[in-house]
This record gives sequence, structure tokens and C-alpha cells, in this order.
Amino acid sequence: MSVSDRAETIASWEDRARAYHDLTERWPLFGAVAGRLVDELPEGFSGTALDLGAGAGLLSALVLERFPGARSVLVEPAPAMLAIAETRLGTRVAAAHVAPAEEVGRLGIRADACLANATAHLFDEERVLAGLRRVLPPGAIYAFNLWGHSFETTADEPAADWQAVVEGVFEEARLPRPEWPTAAVPRVRRRSGLERIARERGFELVTCRSDEDEISGTFHLDFALMAPTWLEHVPEDRRAELVARAREQLDQPIRVHSTRIVLVRRSASDDGDSQSVEEGP
Ligand SMILES: C[S@@+](CC[C@H](N)C(=O)[O-])C[C@H]1O[C@@H](n2cnc3c(N)ncnc32)[C@H](O)[C@@H]1O
Repeated sequence: MSVSDRAETIASWEDRARAYHDLTERWPLFGAVAGRLVDELPEGFSGTALDLGAGAGLLSALVLERFPGARSVLVEPAPAMLAIAETRLGTRVAAAHVAPAEEVGRLGIRADACLANATAHLFDEERVLAGLRRVLPPGAIYAFNLWGHSFETTADEPAADWQAVVEGVFEEARLPRPEWPTAAVPRVRRRSGLERIARERGFELVTCRSDEDEISGTFHLDFALMAPTWLEHVPEDRRAELVARAREQLDQPIRVHSTRIVLVRRSASDDGDSQSVEEGP
């Protein structure tokens, strides 16, 4: 992702901070996917969990609820997101940094584990791992997940054609086609590539597991409604009716996939060839 694409992506989450928080409260899918990362923490975890791309604090809330002795350190580049997270999590947040994950090695953080939920597809993992090498002690885990669109085994699955359904509803109502916002297409990660990058930066990939969830096909519509610019040219008094019609047609079960990946920080004596890998610009 180029520097300007990264800045644009972060700005888009800044704008959607409150809407995203509300969406995660309405859709149990978010908690289910994040909860599987929390499952990867060692039993009785009572240390500091670094939450990378922490957003509005969904993942840390689950960590702190499951492990009463744990604390969270948050790293998140969108200030509006971080503000919601800090309010939500209170005094068990040991520190909160407005920064992208790529800068994690420069923030003076020491943590006992690192988790990243629903955000690692936006990272430059080479830089993130080079940074995490300074943050995590040997034996600590870095667990993250990738949505279906950004992992090799699920990236080619036909996406739910929810936009065509919405376009059909607009056509029936004799309205021009909605103009969908352009989003950066996430890079597809391969297990072999992640293994190599991890090894070069002092980590070992120990788990790579895909999970499937069945949800309503209205999910994508709700996601798009976080930034409803595509509804702007529709007269205000018709929007609710159009959305309701699309929702009715989309309300069929669909399956979504995510893959969780767990890396373990190797001991310094195992680092070997990774010593020369620097964090980069
Ligand atoms: C879908 S939200 C997930 C938030 C949170 N992890 C959760 O579990 O709900 C994606 C988050 O990634 C953040 N993000 C975008 N680019 C990032 C980067 N380069 N480094 C860290 N976080 C980033 C966004 O600001 C947003 O808060």
C-alpha cells in the first residue's frame, strides 16, 4: 500500500469511527472473530496485551474481560477510534498511541503478547514484524487474522453480489445507479510468504487456521451504510424505503471466512540470519 493509500485508509476509518463501533455492537460476527484471537492467548494470561490497529477497543474489551489480570496497550492511527476505545476500556489501558502499526517498534512499548483483529490486511507486515521484534520477548505470540479477501485460500471465493441487489432496487425505483466509493483492494497473503517474512524477522508461524461464520447477507449493506455517500443523490425521503427493500432481498444466509495466524517470537539464539533485518523507513 502506498503512503497516500495508507493515509486515505486511516482517514476513512477516522470518519467512520462511531459508525464502526455501533456496527460491531449490532453484529455478533465481530465479537466472534475477535474472540478467536483471544483464545490464542495462554491460559491465565496476566501480562500486557498489545492491541495493534485497536480501533474502538472491541478486541481489548474481550481480552480484559476474559483475563482479569491483564492490561492493554493500544496502537491505532485514527484518533477518533482511539478516543472511543480509551473511554470504553478505562484504567486497564496501560498506554494508548496514535500511530500506525508500522511504527510499533519506535514507541517504547514492551508487551507480553500482541493481537491484531480485522486490521492486519492494512499492514505492511515486514515493517510491523521488524517493530514487534523489539516489543515482544522470546516465546511471546503475535496473533492476527485476515478476512477472506486477503488470504490465499479464500480470496477467490465469489463475493456476495450485494451491490447488484442494491443496484436492482435503484433501477426498479428509476434512480441512477449508486456510485460506490473506491476502496483499496487488499493484497492477498500466502502462508508461504508469511512464513518467510516471519522467519526473517525472528518469528515462527505456528498456527494458520481458517474459520467460517454464517451470517445474514444484509451484513455488507450495513457495512456500506457506515459511509452512505452512495445514497447522497437519492431524495432523503426515499432512502429508508430503498434500504429496507434491499435489506429484504439480501436477508439470506451467507458464509464469511477469516484466517487466524499465530506467530511466536523466537529466542535471540535462534535469530541467526534475521539479525540484519532492519525496520525500514
Ligand atoms: C475494521 S477496523 C478494526 C478495529 C479493531 N481492531 C477491532 O477489532 O474492531 C480497522 C482498523 O485498522 C486501523 N488501521 C488502518 N490502517 C492501519 C495501520 N497501518 N496500522 C494500524 N492500524 C490501522 C483503522 O484506523 C481501523 O481502526
